Amino acid sequence: MLVNAKEIIQNAYKNKKVVFHININNLEWTKQILLAANYKNVPIILGVSPSAAKYFGGYNVCYSLVKSLIKDLKIKIPVCLHLDHGSYFDCLEAIKAKFSSIMFDGSKLPFEKNLELSKKLSEICKKKNLSIECEIGRIGGAEDGVISEISYTNLNEAKAFKKIGIDMLAVGIGNIHGEYPSDWKGLNFSLLKELNETLNMPFVLHGGSGISDTDLKKCISLGVSKININTELQIANARALESFIKTNDIMENKNYNPRRLYKLPNEAIYNKVIEILDKFKE
Ligand code: 13P
Repeated sequence: MLVNAKEIIQNAYKNKKVVFHININNLEWTKQILLAANYKNVPIILGVSPSAAKYFGGYNVCYSLVKSLIKDLKIKIPVCLHLDHGSYFDCLEAIKAKFSSIMFDGSKLPFEKNLELSKKLSEICKKKNLSIECEIGRIGGAEDGVISEISYTNLNEAKAFKKIGIDMLAVGIGNIHGEYPSDWKGLNFSLLKELNETLNMPFVLHGGSGISDTDLKKCISLGVSKININTELQIANARALESFIKTNDIMENKNYNPRRLYKLPNEAIYNKVIEILDKFKE
């Protein structure tokens, strides 16, 4: 069933649990993630970045694909189709294509402009019964080819965002998209604690790949109800493909058939998702 993220995130928040947001990049990933989450019987958020949507062929393709996989694979868990890091324009496009949730990323805009556009989108989402995530402070690293410096979430700015009625707030607490560098300074837990005590609302932690389970657990205890993961799966997929190509002759046994070529990567994605979903269940 395709749902917005409101109820699943509120439930996670109240019970100090987490819902995983896993980015999808093609049909194979979407299918394996849905099968793994369905097997584990937990809700899942499928994140689609604007460049991933373009790769799929467009927002309508993503919607139809996810809807059809849910139907044909008889997926019983709540599935949220969520735009990840959309501009104002991307958000309108994803809403038109019937996504059930959006993230407006106005973090590179001046604060007032970010707030104004977030408010507009929040009102549209309320009318259409979609969930909305917004971002202040900046998540470091590379996302969709854009490299950003880390900037930390400001408490007063966060208070203003809570007032416009968004469902979840992406916080910048030292987290980075992609791999963490060896000189990474770690997460700022005292800032997260302060934000949590002041705002009492669900937070989102981007850049979930490569953060230790101990740190992720601490984040969940401090109000993080959604953790975004992409790189970890990209690496698992690429490693499996690399290993298949290195150890097999592509011209033997029809190994060039994509269904053979992607057998190991598909298993790797499935297993990685199971491993992620098994975390923090208790
Ligand atoms: P990673 O690629 O670092 O896991 O981050 C994913 C993410 O935050 C998507 O919004």
